[in-house]
Amino acid sequence: MGKEAIKMELEKRALPEVLRLADGTAVNTPELWGKRREEIREILQEECYGRMPRTGWETEWETVQEDKNAFGGKAVLRTVEVRIHTNSRYTSYPFQLVLPKNVQKPPVFLYLTFLPLSSDELMEEITDSGYAVARVSYQDIAPDQGDGYTNGPGALFPGNAFDGWGKLAVWAWSASRIMDYLVDLEEIDGKRIAVAGHSRLGKAALLCGAMDDRFSMVISNDSGAGGISLFRGKEGENVADLCRNFPYWFCGNLKKYAGGETKLPFDQHFLAALVVPRKLYAASAVDDQWADPRSEFLSCAAVTPVYELLGEKGLVCDSLPEKGDAFHEGSVGYHLRPGTHYLGREDWKLFMEYRRRHGV
Ligand code: GCU
Repeated sequence: MGKEAIKMELEKRALPEVLRLADGTAVNTPELWGKRREEIREILQEECYGRMPRTGWETEWETVQEDKNAFGGKAVLRTVEVRIHTNSRYTSYPFQLVLPKNVQKPPVFLYLTFLPLSSDELMEEITDSGYAVARVSYQDIAPDQGDGYTNGPGALFPGNAFDGWGKLAVWAWSASRIMDYLVDLEEIDGKRIAVAGHSRLGKAALLCGAMDDRFSMVISNDSGAGGISLFRGKEGENVADLCRNFPYWFCGNLKKYAGGETKLPFDQHFLAALVVPRKLYAASAVDDQWADPRSEFLSCAAVTPVYELLGEKGLVCDSLPEKGDAFHEGSVGYHLRPGTHYLGREDWKLFMEYRRRHGV
């Protein structure tokens, strides 16, 4: 009965098929999925987020500060400067790494935050639970405003008015430069790194983890429009709102679909599908109508056939979610927290519970 309700809700959305190649071929083997996956990467960069550089830079990382006895001696707190060069240009930004001392090679949260690195923001609670945290304050990478490729990594690789990368792609790509540092770091478990963020940074985290296969898990909290929410049939924020208020988050081509979501050659389950077969976690809040919890949930349901094709359970649940539900059984985790748009301790607790359960 409950499963039927999910199916009906999805049918109403009339989504573009994630498991069909552009030439019409049904995608029913892992090999064909590999091909479809490349098409989807293309579509999302071309029509929504813009192109992320694949070559043409070099990176160095320098420890600029280290406290070996942070949090009363429980953790090492290190600030690292990421320095990125191209032939003619240069940019840099810091991130902070908190390493708990009571765990050998801890799993990591690479966390994009709104707050400055001087804030404490739950760090102690997370590291006490046995996780390392690599935290970057997003506007240290590039300001949250339309600046026409004059700042940060955007200035290293200026784009055009059509498929040039938007700020979400800039933040996402820059988080991957932190991943470059983490992935081979002896002190952590490079096979268990999750990227996480809230709201606009939930969009950026999802994009980052979708485009960068090295993350074992991708966490998008209340990410809404342009994040995990389906655009078709969505309540609250839509494409026109995004293009009016935050055009610089996306590439110029997205404007073609303002007021015309049904014409989008993708929907957000395509972005989620790039995470397959890795773990995906979406969190919603009941009173977050601007993001639209129902559309966030349905995206998780819509990506499930892709997981199943690859032999994984996607989202495992028997009914539409109710306040307080958490679905943790499958490779897609989801919870619907009571309350408003926010990333708080209940959310982190559930992310950690899910990670422990699945060993990611
Ligand atoms: C605005 C925006 C959302 C975004 C949110 C946030 O509300 O419309 O798309 O997620 O800001 O980042 O807090």
